[in-house]
Amino acid sequence: MRVLVAGGAGYIGSHTVLALLARGHDVVVADDFSNARPSVMDRLAELAGRPVALEEVDLTDEARTEEVVARSEPDAVIHFAGLKAVGESVREPLAYYRTNLDATFSLLTAMRTHDVRRLVFSSSATVYGDHAPVPYPESYEPLAAASPYGRTKVMIEQVLTDVGLADPDLRIALLRYFNPVGAHASGRLGEDPQGVPNNLVPYVAQVAVGRRDRLQIYGDDYDTPDGTCLRDYIHVEDLAEGHVAALEHLEAMATPVRAFNLGSGRGTSVRELFDAFCAAVGRPLEAEVVGRRPGDLPAYWADVTRAADELGWRATRGLEEMVADVWRWQSANPDGYPRERAGQHPDVTPA
Ligand code: UFG
Repeated sequence: MRVLVAGGAGYIGSHTVLALLARGHDVVVADDFSNARPSVMDRLAELAGRPVALEEVDLTDEARTEEVVARSEPDAVIHFAGLKAVGESVREPLAYYRTNLDATFSLLTAMRTHDVRRLVFSSSATVYGDHAPVPYPESYEPLAAASPYGRTKVMIEQVLTDVGLADPDLRIALLRYFNPVGAHASGRLGEDPQGVPNNLVPYVAQVAVGRRDRLQIYGDDYDTPDGTCLRDYIHVEDLAEGHVAALEHLEAMATPVRAFNLGSGRGTSVRELFDAFCAAVGRPLEAEVVGRRPGDLPAYWADVTRAADELGWRATRGLEEMVADVWRWQSANPDGYPRERAGQHPDVTPA
């Protein structure tokens, strides 16, 4: 299939681009590099053995998005593009609602104009809110989220559900990610947060390379086996393969819209993860226990039955592999991706 990957230069997007290429799909990346480095495209070309087509575009620009869809003539769209920092979304709610919703509206409008009826959307486990039973089942309702970021995901799921009801020929997979971690096994692609990392694994990785002094563990007085929170960490390469499985399943879907959890199905504590990371690095790292972070839930993980039964997909990479791959990436790229691109590729479409 020919796939337009919106947000394809980002952390999960870039890994998915490689997984798509490995399965013989044809890819066009659409990204504005607002939260990704252009040099990701060099790394993708290096790993793919050929340049990857790029459309540099702000997807909230409806006219430009329409041009991109017209030019790239995709069979399907995978939509990763959006803002994703929970704390920032509380401070800048308007930016989150505007960016995440407008980019989706532009893509949906352009897809309708050009008769593209296959979509895979990046959703999040955050849509289960505070009350869903653990492990979270996709059938749970009502969806709710505790942050503006999370509410953009709930809203977009609702928009896509309504759009699917109005056009029964559409096929849309809503992929609810749990906690994506890990890096490409080559050490050439990984997570490169701008500024101070909000999430556990990139923070520990920066402690390991000396960019941060110590990890702050947000609370060890939860009602969990070691008192720290449990999350469902999933290797980004498993997640990328989950997108390919969902894309290839769209045609066989019985209903226009279907949600799938992408997680490992297991809970891992903050302490277990930190200890595994120290073991991968081969020396102790510093950590201190501080107070709970407001809004954190004690423990949740995915019910992975539906993805296994319907997509034929399940996560295969364990905790040790996740942290080893992050360490390989972070130690080889202590400051993340290079700021500049090595060079422009001939098939890259100018902005
Ligand atoms: N944690 C620490 N110290 C840190 C960072 C995190 O102890 O410096 C702990 C948190 O308290 C939590 C666990 O590590 O128990 C994981 O925290 P992350 O911030 O890495 O991930 P979250 O589970 O909070 O966030 C994830 C996704 C979001 C999503 C959110 C809510 O990254 O996109 O779940 O479902 F919105």
